[in-house]
Amino acid sequence: MMKPHIYFNSNIDSPEEWKAALSQHFPNMQYSVGEICDDPDSVDVALVWKLPNRGLADFKNLKAVLSLGAGINQLDPARLPRHVPLARLVDDSLTQTMVEYAKAATFRYHRKFHLFERQTREARWTFVPATIARDTSVGVLGLGELGGAIAKALATEGFNVSGWSRSQKDIEGIATYCGQSGLAEMLAVSDIVINVLPLTDDTRSILNEEFFVQCKRGACLINMGRGHHLVDADLLAAIDAGQIQAATLDVATVEPLPPAHPFWMHPAILVTPHVAGISTPESASVAVAQNIRRALNGEPLAQQVNVSRGY
Ligand code: GLV
Repeated sequence: MMKPHIYFNSNIDSPEEWKAALSQHFPNMQYSVGEICDDPDSVDVALVWKLPNRGLADFKNLKAVLSLGAGINQLDPARLPRHVPLARLVDDSLTQTMVEYAKAATFRYHRKFHLFERQTREARWTFVPATIARDTSVGVLGLGELGGAIAKALATEGFNVSGWSRSQKDIEGIATYCGQSGLAEMLAVSDIVINVLPLTDDTRSILNEEFFVQCKRGACLINMGRGHHLVDADLLAAIDAGQIQAATLDVATVEPLPPAHPFWMHPAILVTPHVAGISTPESASVAVAQNIRRALNGEPLAQQVNVSRGY
C-alpha cells in the first residue's frame, strides 16, 4: 500500500476536504499543510494552487508538483524546481463549471440581460426584441480541454461558434482558426468573444488595443483566462469608444481586484471573483490520486506541463 507524504498549499481550496478525499485513495498517507512542514525530506508530492513563501526547495525528494488549477502560471513557474515534473489539473467538475459560466455569461449578453439590468436601475421599460441563438456568433480563444468543451456546449445551444488556437484544431460543428490572420477573421464576425487561453509569453496582454480594433463593433468580451491576458486601460478605452460594448471579467491582474479599480463601478463591466472554474475535491482527487501513483512509481505524469511551451 502506498504511503505518500503529500504537501498541500492553497488559499482558496479547503485542506480538510482535500485531506478527506485523498485519504479515500491513500488511507496511510502523511499530509502536511501550509508554510511550515515538519519532515520536508519525506515529502513526495506537492499539491498546490500557489507556492508557499519559501518555495519548494526544502522538499529534497519531491517527485511531482500537481497544480490545483487548470492553469499553472499562478505557481510562478520560474520558482519551481526545474527537475521536478509539473502537472495541471484536468477534471470533469472544473470543466463543467467553466462550461456553465461560459453559457451563463453568453446567454446574459445574447438575451440582453446586461441592458435590462441597466434599464431596471433606471426604471426604464424599453422593449428590445430578442434574437435566436444562431444569429449570435461566439468566438472562443483557446480550444484545449476547457475551450473545446465550451465551444461544443455553446454550439449545442445553437450559437454560431468559432474557435481559435495556437495550432489548428478540428472540432465538428465549429469553425476553427489559428495564426494572426485566423484571429482577425474570427474577431471580425464574433458578437461575443470568450478567452480561455493559457497564460504564456505569447498570450500575455493579447486582449489589447490592437485586438479590440479587430473585433466586430459592439462585441462583448468574457475573460475566463487570466487577468494578465487583458490590458485593463485598453479595454476601458475600447468601451469608451463603443468598439467593445461590455465585458465580463472573472480574473484580474491583481486578485482581489483593488477597491479603487475603475472596473468596479463601470456600468458596462461585470466582475466575478475568480469563480468560473471550481473543482470539487471529491471529483478532482481521482485524477490527482492517479498522478500521485504515477509519481511514486517514477512514471510520467498525466497532463504534464511542457514548461517551455507554458501549458
Ligand atoms: C483556475 O483559474 C484554474 O486555473 O483552474
